[in-house]
Amino acid sequence: MALTIQAPAKLNRFLAVLGRRADGFHELELVTTVLDGVPDLTDTLSAEPADALSMAITGPMGEGLPEDGTNLVLRAWRLLEDTAHRPLPAVLRLEKRIPHGAGLGGGSSDAAAALRLGNRLFGLGLDDVSLLPLAARLGSDVPLFLLGGTVLGLGRGERVFPLRPVPLEPLLLVHPGLHVSTPSVYRALQEIGYPFPEALASQPVGAAPPWRNDLTGAALWVCPPLAEVREALRDSGGDPLLCGSGSCWAARYVGPEARDAAAGRIAAARPDWRIWRI
Ligand code: C5P
Repeated sequence: MALTIQAPAKLNRFLAVLGRRADGFHELELVTTVLDGVPDLTDTLSAEPADALSMAITGPMGEGLPEDGTNLVLRAWRLLEDTAHRPLPAVLRLEKRIPHGAGLGGGSSDAAAALRLGNRLFGLGLDDVSLLPLAARLGSDVPLFLLGGTVLGLGRGERVFPLRPVPLEPLLLVHPGLHVSTPSVYRALQEIGYPFPEALASQPVGAAPPWRNDLTGAALWVCPPLAEVREALRDSGGDPLLCGSGSCWAARYVGPEARDAAAGRIAAARPDWRIWRI
């Protein structure tokens, strides 16, 4: 019997870079919300027991993604096999709706979904506490998807703590079709200088985190055309924020009417950009 699981996108609402660590990673402080209930921005992963492990990718954002062992879904599956000390042969089908290299955590969400799905399909009996270290080995952003909701991330982002949910304001997400490599953005921090910001001070319970992303300057340095998207969102009355290391931008608006009007204007001016209302 096939099992299916949803893999939603995420939005970093606060991303502070505290500095570069001896291991080359960057110490971060993050507030991230998992975007549940946005079907156009949710991948679907299904699995069915089979004689051997295989993977197929479909969906509007699936083109060009590797279906081999470099795919995070297969890496997650192999890690589960190592943990279970046995093969977990299955046909995996991934339907991609979250754009790749967009800062929305699509690959990380797929990996977290694969851990959950394999665990359930083969009755491995691993709880989330056992899955979290596996998730952290797959990538800094994978563990937060096991928690869901709004999450505080520390360390390289993999040390996750659930936060009381803070509602999102009316948002647009805009993907300009550019692909930005995360390592190159972190490397560029060395060229442009570290912001060395103050860490997020204790927030009053239920308060929205500051709308801030310390990777913005480095991402613009690596990919200057990103500035066009920021300008278009500002011109439409929005308050833009880069998603992770790019290339998507989020923008918040004073209300849903302002957001919807902006979506219409931007879609008319830039039919080549993808836009989601959150
Ligand atoms: O952990 P993940 O595989 O997602 O990280 C991708 C790359 O992003 C790392 O290889 C590193 O270059 C950079 N990174 C970083 N500091 C972090 C997270 C990621 O330098 N906290």
